Amino acid sequence: MSPAFHDKILLLLCILCFNGVFGSRQGIQVAAVLGVEGSEAHTSSLVHHKGRRHGLFDVMRFGARADGRTDDTRAFRAAWNEACEASGSVNLVIPKGTYLIGPIKFAGPCNNVSSLTVLMKGHLKATTNLSNYGFSAGWVEFGRVEGLTLTGGGTFDGQGAKAWPYNNCSTHSKCKLLPTNVKFMAMNKTVVRGITSLNSKFFHMALVECQNFKGSKIKISAPENSPNTDGIHIERSSSVYFSGSHIGTGDDCISIGQGNSQVTVSSVTCGPGHGISVGSLGKYRNEGDVSGLVVRDCTITGTSNGIRIKTWANSPDSSVATNMTFENIVMNNVTNPIIIDQAYCPFTSCTSMVHHI
Ligand SMILES: *[C@@H]1O[C@H](CO)[C@@H](O)[C@H](O)[C@H]1NC(C)=O
Ligand SMILES: *[C@@H]1O[C@H](CO)[C@@H](O)[C@H](O)[C@H]1NC(C)=O
Ligand SMILES: *[C@@H]1O[C@H](CO)[C@@H](O)[C@H](O)[C@H]1NC(C)=O
Ligand SMILES: *[C@@H]1O[C@H](CO)[C@@H](O)[C@H](O)[C@H]1NC(C)=O
Ligand SMILES: *[C@@H]1O[C@H](CO)[C@@H](O)[C@H](O)[C@H]1NC(C)=O
Ligand SMILES: *[C@@H]1O[C@H](CO)[C@@H](O)[C@H](O)[C@H]1NC(C)=O
Repeated sequence: MSPAFHDKILLLLCILCFNGVFGSRQGIQVAAVLGVEGSEAHTSSLVHHKGRRHGLFDVMRFGARADGRTDDTRAFRAAWNEACEASGSVNLVIPKGTYLIGPIKFAGPCNNVSSLTVLMKGHLKATTNLSNYGFSAGWVEFGRVEGLTLTGGGTFDGQGAKAWPYNNCSTHSKCKLLPTNVKFMAMNKTVVRGITSLNSKFFHMALVECQNFKGSKIKISAPENSPNTDGIHIERSSSVYFSGSHIGTGDDCISIGQGNSQVTVSSVTCGPGHGISVGSLGKYRNEGDVSGLVVRDCTITGTSNGIRIKTWANSPDSSVATNMTFENIVMNNVTNPIIIDQAYCPFTSCTSMVHHI
């Protein structure tokens, strides 16, 4: 068989295969593209189109090295940008391997994407040079995406041990907050399942202005003495569900901040750490109310607090925390099982005024 003929046969087979999988219309589009290009280009354009048709974007194809030493941030950003600009159902794949990643924003909106799955099997290690992280930003930040699923058994490793000595905001007013491992900003319809977060520099996971968020099978771990390594912090969000997860850190297991409604936490085990807390509330102006919180079937072990509601004494505005249900919470070796602190002050002194919460 001549090489040219061989190519044609292959091409024909490919077209047939595309027809089988995608139906004739898309198959013909692919064939048209292949028909006008040289034989070398056949393969690459085929792979490209195959990728696009399946909506599959693999960071390795965007130059990620996965050697744990080379900074792979640029490859991740490039893969995201293409995935977000694609249409239909899209998969961003991070295969097994160790990736060194600096601060990165996975920003939407992804207008023509109906659902975007980040299949993360790899171990992501955060870079440790703090001057590269923005003020109050996340290390990995997802923003303004609708229909994101983050899954795959992978790990966000914040490499926080080197950063913790720089956590000095409680004693220095001119300080820089350290980055949260994974931050979700203004996301709708998010699913996070089977993901691990380790040794965050600051909070492990934060939700801000998210609607319809479901988290499950999440593992979060940092040493008991690590500062402000809260497991999950939720703020100004609604319809949030966390279940079947284990969280052991140096601070709150889950903290429910201001402006949240309809938050359910079930079958979560906490410890070590500071337990599940509502608040702190009432520190700033214009804080939203907290309502419709349900915490059920949780086990809290070896923590300083179990369930805590903490509000600052000198609230500048008034807000309310209502309709909170705590049901079937098992506590083992918890110093303060239930604590309602209306004069919360983590510093050596706080100015005390009349409180409104
Ligand atoms: C989204 O789809 C519309 C119509 O299907 C198309 O006109 C537009 O160019 C697409 N936008 C992007 C960013 O692909
Ligand atoms: C940290 O990053 C800053 C800004 O990019 C750079 O100037 C500095 O050299 C880096 N430090 C180290 C130790 O790499
Ligand atoms: C999320 O939903 C709200 C309305 O419920 C909408 O205003 C907003 O644009 C949506 N955000 C995204 C990223 O789709
Ligand atoms: C406080 O942390 C900042 C980094 O956020 C660092 O530049 C500064 O030196 C620290 N100050 C002290 C007194 O440790
Ligand atoms: C209280 O919260 C629960 C759970 O979120 C909700 O189903 C219920 O409607 C709320 N009740 C009131 C009176 O708001
Ligand atoms: C109780 O919890 C503390 C941490 O709060 C831990 O150091 C201690 O070992 C635990 N004791 C038992 C008996 O588990």
